[in-house]
Amino acid sequence: METSLYEQVGGDTFFVRLVDAFYAEVENDEILRPMYPEELDDSKRHLSLFLIQYWGGPRTYQEERGHPRLRMRHAPFRVTKRARDAWLDAMNAALAMVRDELSNEQFDELRSYFDMVAHQLRNV
Ligand code: HEM
Repeated sequence: METSLYEQVGGDTFFVRLVDAFYAEVENDEILRPMYPEELDDSKRHLSLFLIQYWGGPRTYQEERGHPRLRMRHAPFRVTKRARDAWLDAMNAALAMVRDELSNEQFDELRSYFDMVAHQLRNV
């Protein structure tokens, strides 16, 4: 059986670090920061659990939050082209910080995944 990307990158800690780096960018972004709650701990937890589940790790996200339904969950927010690009810039900066832990293939896989989903989530 093929090992999941989750296992290949070393499990939870990789995704927690990626998400921490992502939210450090969000905190300094004038388009994104106002969209998120003041306290970011829950947001961090939800995104890391989601990614852990998506990439083949434990399904804690589903247990805690139910089916992901990402488009529905983003419906309350105005995901404009600018917001989408800001989100992707923040995630790409976060990916750059863990770049040396990833093979080219893993890096490309993560980048294209985020790019694809962010494009799907634009709703304005
Ligand atoms: C396109 C630009 C995006 C914007 C502006 C955006 C913004 C947001 C905001 C404001 C929240 C609510 C935060 C909270 O309640 O704590 C959220 C939640 C979330 N976002 Fe995004 N997001 C974007 C793209 C993405 C992408 C590409 C993914 C996944 C690859 C994603 C995954 C999630 C998840 C898993 C949650 C938590 C859902 C839950 O409540 O369980 N988002 N997003």
